[in-house]
Parts: sequence; structure tokens; C-alpha cells
Amino acid sequence: MTRICIIGAGPAGLLLGHLLRAEGVDCIVLERRSPAYVLSRIRAGVLERGTVALMERLGLDARLKAEGLVHDGFNLADGERLIRIDIADLVGSHVVVYGQTELTRDLMDAREARGLEVVYEAQDVTLHAVESDAPYVTYVKDGVAQRVDARIIVGCDGFHGPSRQTIPASVGRDYGREYPFGWLGILADVPPCNHELIYANHERGFALASQRSLTRSRYYVDVPLTEKLEDWPDERIWDELALRLGPAVAPHITRGPAIEKSIAPLRSHVFTPMRHGSLMLCGDSAHIVPPTGAKGLNLAASDVYYAAEALVAFAKRGDADAVAAYSDKALSRVWKAERFSWSLTRLMHRFPEDGPFERAMQVAELDYIASSRAAQTSIAENYVGLPY
Ligand code: APR
Ligand code: PHB
Repeated sequence: MTRICIIGAGPAGLLLGHLLRAEGVDCIVLERRSPAYVLSRIRAGVLERGTVALMERLGLDARLKAEGLVHDGFNLADGERLIRIDIADLVGSHVVVYGQTELTRDLMDAREARGLEVVYEAQDVTLHAVESDAPYVTYVKDGVAQRVDARIIVGCDGFHGPSRQTIPASVGRDYGREYPFGWLGILADVPPCNHELIYANHERGFALASQRSLTRSRYYVDVPLTEKLEDWPDERIWDELALRLGPAVAPHITRGPAIEKSIAPLRSHVFTPMRHGSLMLCGDSAHIVPPTGAKGLNLAASDVYYAAEALVAFAKRGDADAVAAYSDKALSRVWKAERFSWSLTRLMHRFPEDGPFERAMQVAELDYIASSRAAQTSIAENYVGLPY
């Protein structure tokens, strides 16, 4: 029996666990936090069609179908106008607005029915012998030392998890950059200001009007990383949003008390390779995108799709080539999503180092997008997600 040990029960780890169990592959998931903690993390909420298709395949799409909002387009604002990217018309597709927290909850709730074992509050998770054919993981649960012997370990433990760190520096490479700003987010139980998302590049900075449902809104403004959350009472955020989203949108903003407020730094990272010996990496453990393209969760989903395909071939037919090919296959899609997230970030934010030339380039590009179906098609195709 081929046992797979998955580290991390975020969306990547849970999705992979379900896909493997659905094919009868033996696996166990180890998670450092409690279920309540995992569900308390506020994350993005735009699903590509491929992510929805995975939930459908698992038979876990009932709530997503009932409560998810189908969006046929979104908008770029350049201070004067809204440039609508008509996804449905341009590429015959759509995205679904459904909070990542909700998707994680659906995956969590279905653990038992699928026979998916998840050990929560597993402390000191440590990977061993990943370069051999007999890797194992040790951890401590309720004060008792435990050991899991596996054939393959899959690191789904996010940006700060231990899995990636077990790949020696002589093998692994980190391609990355940090951006000189973060997104200050506010979540509030108020109706959204617009039926579709608006990404705005205003002279005061970036703003995003997003939503979780018809009664819950999510907004962001970009701020220097030196900014302190306590200097941003709710009213100041609402005032700033009204200015940056512009006079056409501002009157439609409903203000309300924040349920959650946070500042998240923006970064782009790709760690290569995504497999080393008997260790595979999926999701944020292998790459980070700035949130501008709404790709974080969706990229984790496509990694997991490739990883599940390879692991099922390996477990059922002993096909080791599938596992060996995983890194290149996944990275080819990862790099394209990184490119899109980076270019949309570049286009929609004011960088402190930018001079008049860089600003003129942004204006020209937004003007080009406004007037070119080809440019809009390229954005729409990337936003809905490139094919797996
Ligand atoms: N031991 C066990 N589990 C760990 C450890 C550890 N030492 N370190 C981290 N984890 C767990 C975290 O507690 C978390 O639940 O790994 C999980 C990683 O989950 P995410 O950070 O959500 O990453 P991922 O599943 O790859 O999701 C990718 O979702 O939330 C977005 O920004 C994220 O959008 C990205 C996408
Ligand atoms: C969100 O709703 O939190 C969100 C939406 C779109 C993004 C990023 C975040 O690009």
C-alpha cells in the first residue's frame, strides 16, 4: 500500500486529500493548527472554473453552486472611467465569487464521509529522509511523539511551513521579489458597491472593491509597509476607498463596521523545483503571488490537480515517471500565473520609484486595454485561468 503524507490542511492539503481518497489512495494529513483557527483566516474569494470543476468532481459543489456568485466580468478603473472586461463575451467563461474560507469549510465537513484522516494540532512536524524511497514524518500530538512512514510526502504547508526548507540550498532556488506596499483590507456586512469587482489605479493609490456575497463586502487600499493598522480607523478606510474608487462609484459604497481588518504584504515568489526526491510541494509552499490577479487559491488547485494525477498513477500503476514529471508540469502553469499577477500588480499600483515615464506607460497601457479587444481578451483569458 502506497501511503502519502500531506503536510498542511489549508485548501491545497484538503483538496489533495479528497482527490486521493476518492481514488482509494491511502493518505493522512497533518495540520499544526485547530480547525477553528484554519477557518478564521480571511483569504480571497474568486474561483476559476478549474477550481470549481475540482469541487464538482469531488461532489462537494452543492453550497458553492447555491451560494457562489457567477461573475461574467470585472472592471479596471483608471481614475476617470471603468474599463469593463467582459469575460463571458471575450472568452465564453466566468469566475465564481465564493470565499476561500467557505471552500475550506466544505472540504473540512466532508472529511469523515470520504474517510480522510486529518490530524489537527500536530506539533513539531518534521520531515525525514526525503531523498530516499522511505521518507517519514515525526510530530507530537497531545504530548505524545508520533511517526508516519510514507512513500511520498506532499508539502501543502504554506509559505512559512517546514516542507520547502527540507530541500537543500544546493538544489532549490527562490525566484522572488517583495513589493514596497501592502494591501489594507476591510471586511464588512454591507452590500457591495457594484455587482462586479473593480480594480482601481488612482493617483492616491490602488483600491479594490470585492465581495463575498450580496450582503458582505471586501475592500482593499494599498499602503506603504510602514503603515500601522491602528492609524486606520474604519472611517478613514471608507473615506480613502471613496476617493480612490472615484466619483461614479463612491455614492454606491455602503459603510459599516469592520468584521476584519489587516495589512498583507505583496510578494511574488517561485521556488524550484516543486519536487525533490520523495517530496512534492503544492500551493503557497512553492509559490506566492500578489493578490491582484486572485490567483493564490486557484494556483494551489491546479498544483493539486497535477499532483493527484501523478500520485494516483504512481499508487495504482507504479508509474514513477508521473511523479518525476510533476515539477515541470506544475511550474509551466505557475510561471504564467505569476506573470499575470505581477503584470496586473505593475499596471494597477503606483510604485514609489516610478517617475513620469513609468506613469505615462501605465496610462498608455490602460488606454490601450480600453480600446483593444485583443488586449481585453488576453486579460480575460488569464483572469478566468489558463487551462490545466
Ligand atoms: N505543520 C503542519 N501544518 C503546517 C505547518 C507545520 N509546521 N506550517 C503550516 N502549516 C499549515 C498551516 O497552518 C495551514 O493550514 O499549512 C496550511 C497551509 O495553508 P495555506 O497557507 O492556506 O496554503 P495553501 O493550502 O497552499 O493555500 C493556497 O490559499 O490562502 C490562500 O494565500 C493562500 O491563496 C493561497 C492559497
Ligand atoms: C478578495 O475578495 O479578497 C479578493 C478578490 C480579488 C482579488 C484579491 C482579493 O484579486
